[in-house]
Amino acid sequence: MQIIFKVLRQQQNSAPNSKEYLLDTQPSSTILDCLNHIKWNIDGTLAFRKNCRNTICGSCAMKINGRSTLACKENVGSELAKLGHNFSTKNVEDKIPEITIAPLGNLPVIKDLVVDMRSFWDNLEKIVPYVNTTSENLPDREFLQTPQERSKLDQVSNCIMCGACYSECNAVEVNPDFAGPHALAKGYRNFADPRDDEHQKRLEEYNTGTKGIWGCTRCHYCNSICPMGVAPMDQITKIKREILAAKTKNESRPIRHRRVLTELVKTGGWIDERQFGLQLTSNYFRDIRGLLSIAPLGLRMIAKGKFPFSFEPSEGVEQVRALMNAAQEQKDQD
Ligand code: SF4
Ligand code: SF4
Ligand code: FES
Repeated sequence: MQIIFKVLRQQQNSAPNSKEYLLDTQPSSTILDCLNHIKWNIDGTLAFRKNCRNTICGSCAMKINGRSTLACKENVGSELAKLGHNFSTKNVEDKIPEITIAPLGNLPVIKDLVVDMRSFWDNLEKIVPYVNTTSENLPDREFLQTPQERSKLDQVSNCIMCGACYSECNAVEVNPDFAGPHALAKGYRNFADPRDDEHQKRLEEYNTGTKGIWGCTRCHYCNSICPMGVAPMDQITKIKREILAAKTKNESRPIRHRRVLTELVKTGGWIDERQFGLQLTSNYFRDIRGLLSIAPLGLRMIAKGKFPFSFEPSEGVEQVRALMNAAQEQKDQD
């Protein structure tokens, strides 16, 4: 079958341009097979990263039809099926189907599909991405773990550091201090490992400002995009639960986070993000330091057109409120 690959090409610090390549290929060919074919037979100047060809190394992440994923994981057939292409019938307009390829987002382009991943690795480094065993009580032999303890780490250990989640993360886009879904998922991996000695220190670190877990906007993109099923947002939520469980003081920020979130959803059916920032971080203007800490983020959001200046309550807000009240009553009875 014939297919057109539209590849967004770019040199460093210059405007991107889209280049089209016509290929004869099979639905079972991976996107990486097609890019290799272009490079080896049509245009040797096309730049992209790859290594294992088997979803292990994480180096071939790019945007395929607007979605960040691995070029060696996706194939032509599945991509066209997502676009609604029917292989059993001839295209009505006889048009050659197209697949678009672009570099990862949130990272500067070096050339074509090769991005500069420095901020990705720097953010990972900041969360101390290894089990820390500085304790003096070292066992004589190896550290032992029960199968139950190890099973808590299974999902997050699947991360291959491909950068797909970072590319789609809304928080990274507006807040360069935010550690990123990959780093916080790795943070949970070490935090949940009973061999790690930095449990409390990690909790405090991840609980700080908008660079840690509270910078996540819960947009869910990282969960839906991750090609390895790591679900970074779920790992961030697990850290939040630990923090909430550890703090009992009513005016602590984690407790306020939960209360403000609940009140806003009860009021408007969904979250009024302007109020959320003010009520949570500035504690209703009582915490001037907190207010100042979110000011740069607010300005960047305004500059990027991501700050909502008005708020419309969602439809069915009464039902949402009734549902939440009923759940609360049930919880009180239990
Ligand atoms: S969490 Fe998933 S998407 Fe993010 S870097 Fe790891 S494997 Fe890639
Ligand atoms: S859920 Fe949080 S960490 Fe994941 S992409 Fe959205 S903002 Fe980023
Ligand atoms: S080439 Fe290694 S993950 Fe795709």
